[in-house]
Amino acid sequence: MSKLRVNAFTVSADGFGAGPDQGREYPLGRGGEALHEWLIPTLTFQRDVQRKAGGTTGPDNDFAERSFQNHGAWIMGRNMFGPVRGPWPDHEWKGWWGANPPYHVPVFVLTHHPRPPLEMQGGTTFHFVTDGIEAALARARDAAGEKDVRIGGGAATIRQYLQAGLIDELHLAISPVLLGRGEPLFAGIDLTALGYRVTERVLTGTAMHLVLAR
Ligand SMILES: NC(=O)c1ccc[n+]([C@@H]2O[C@H](COP(=O)([O-])OP(=O)(O)OC[C@H]3O[C@@H](n4cnc5c(N)ncnc54)[C@H](OP(=O)(O)O)[C@@H]3O)[C@@H](O)[C@H]2O)c1
Repeated sequence: MSKLRVNAFTVSADGFGAGPDQGREYPLGRGGEALHEWLIPTLTFQRDVQRKAGGTTGPDNDFAERSFQNHGAWIMGRNMFGPVRGPWPDHEWKGWWGANPPYHVPVFVLTHHPRPPLEMQGGTTFHFVTDGIEAALARARDAAGEKDVRIGGGAATIRQYLQAGLIDELHLAISPVLLGRGEPLFAGIDLTALGYRVTERVLTGTAMHLVLAR
C-alpha cells in the first residue's frame, strides 16, 4: 500500500533542518551545507544528483539508495524549491537542480503564491499547490498510484504533515554538527504522542540514521 515517507532528511544534533539566513548564497542556511556530509559523497548522490561516476558505498549509501526507491511523487515546501519569497516576481526561478532535476516524477510545491505548472526535462513537473497540505497530498497520491509519496522537506513542511498525523515513515539522518539557529524540526512536536517509535538505527562516521514508524 502506498505510504507517505520522509527519507534522508538531515537534522543537526540540535535539531535544525537548515541554518539561518537561507538565500541564494546559503541554500541550506548558514552552516547548513555541513548537514549533508554523510550524503554528498555517496555513490547514489553522485550518480543520481551530481551525475558523476564514483562515490562511497556502505550504510550511508544504502540509506541514500533507499530514499530514491518506489516513490511516484514528491511534496516539498516553497523554501526548499528556492530562495524566492513572497509573490513570484516572474517565472525565472526553476529550482536549484538545473534543467533535469533528480525527481523524474510530479513534485507538488506548497506555497501561498500561485504559479502555473513548470515542466522540466526527465519527467519532473513542479506543481504549485496553494490549497494546503491535504490537497497537495491528495494530488500527490493520485499521481503516485501504487507507489509512495516522498516529502522532501523542509522542516516547516514535514512538521505540518507530522502534526496532521499523516506520515507513515521517516528516515532521519542526525548529523554531528550544531547549527544553533535555523529551521527546527522537532520543536513543539511530541513524536511519542503521535505514535512513532524508532524501528531502525545505524551509526556511521558521519550520521546517526534513525527510521521512525508507527
Ligand atoms: N536537511 C535536509 O535534509 C533538507 C531537506 C530539504 C530541504 N532542506 C532545506 O530546508 C530549507 C527549507 O525549509 P523551511 O522549513 O524553511 O521551509 P519549507 O518547508 O521548504 O517551505 C516553507 C514554505 O512553504 C510554503 N508553505 C508551507 N506550508 C504551506 C501551506 N500549508 N500552505 C501554503 N504554503 C505553504 C510557505 O511559503 P510561501 O508562503 O512563501 O508560499 C512556507 O513559508 C531550505 O534551506 C532547504 O535547502 C533541508
